[in-house]
Amino acid sequence: MNVAKENAAIAALEFVRDGMILGLGSGSTAEIFIDQLGERVAGGLKIQGIPTSARTAECAIEAGIPLVDADKVEKIDLTVDGADEVDPAFSLIKGGGACLLREKIIAHASSKMVVIVDNAKLVDTLGAFPLPIEVDPFAMALTAEKIYQALKDTGCREAQTVLRQAKDKSGPLVTDGGHWILDSKCELIPSPVETARALSQIPGVMEHGLFIDLADVIIVGEVDHAKVME
Ligand code: 5RP
Repeated sequence: MNVAKENAAIAALEFVRDGMILGLGSGSTAEIFIDQLGERVAGGLKIQGIPTSARTAECAIEAGIPLVDADKVEKIDLTVDGADEVDPAFSLIKGGGACLLREKIIAHASSKMVVIVDNAKLVDTLGAFPLPIEVDPFAMALTAEKIYQALKDTGCREAQTVLRQAKDKSGPLVTDGGHWILDSKCELIPSPVETARALSQIPGVMEHGLFIDLADVIIVGEVDHAKVME
C-alpha cells in the first residue's frame, strides 16, 4: 500500500457527512478511499455512492457501499477522485485509468470535488503526463489530426499521440462507454483552458482529460501526513 495515497484518502473522509450522495472516483487512490469509506459504512455511516467506472462499482460493492443509479438522484453532494497531475490553479490531468468521461460527468454534477493525490502528482505546468483523450472509434484518424492541430494551435509542444492498447494486447483499449483513448504526450500544456476549449470543439472527441475549474479541494498525501489545500 502506498502510504502517501492512503494518508490522502483518509483525510478525504473528513469531508463526508451522513446522508450524502457521493461520486466515487477511479484509480488506485480512489480505491483506497472506497475501502476506508466501506469501513465507515460498516460502522453506521449512511451514504450512497455513484461509481465512475465498472471497476469502481465492483470495489464499492466489495466494500459494502450502497450504490445508487446516477439517473435516480437530483444532486451529488461530493465527489472524491484521484488525478494524474495537479497544477497550482487546481487544473488537473485525469484519465490514466481510462475513466475520464464518467469521472468528468460526475465531478461536473457534484457540489464539491475533492481530489486525492500523493505529492508526486503536483506540477508547476501540466503536460508531462500524456493527456488522455477519449474518442469515438469512427474516423479516428481524422479526429486525431484535428487533435494534433488543436494542441499545436494552443502552444503545446510537438504532441506525440498514441492509441492506448488493452492490457492483454488484444487491440485498442475500450472504455466503459465504448470509446478509445488517445494519449497525447505534450510535455507542456502552457494554456490548459485554451487547450481544453479547443479539444472540446472537435466532434469526435467524447471528452478530454483536462479538468478545469472542477477541483475545489486538493489533498496531498505525504508519508506521515496529508496537506489539505482549498
Ligand atoms: C482514472 C483517473 C485516476 O484518478 C488517475 O489516473 C489517478 O490514478 P491513481 O490514483 O491510480 O494514481 O483519472 O481515469
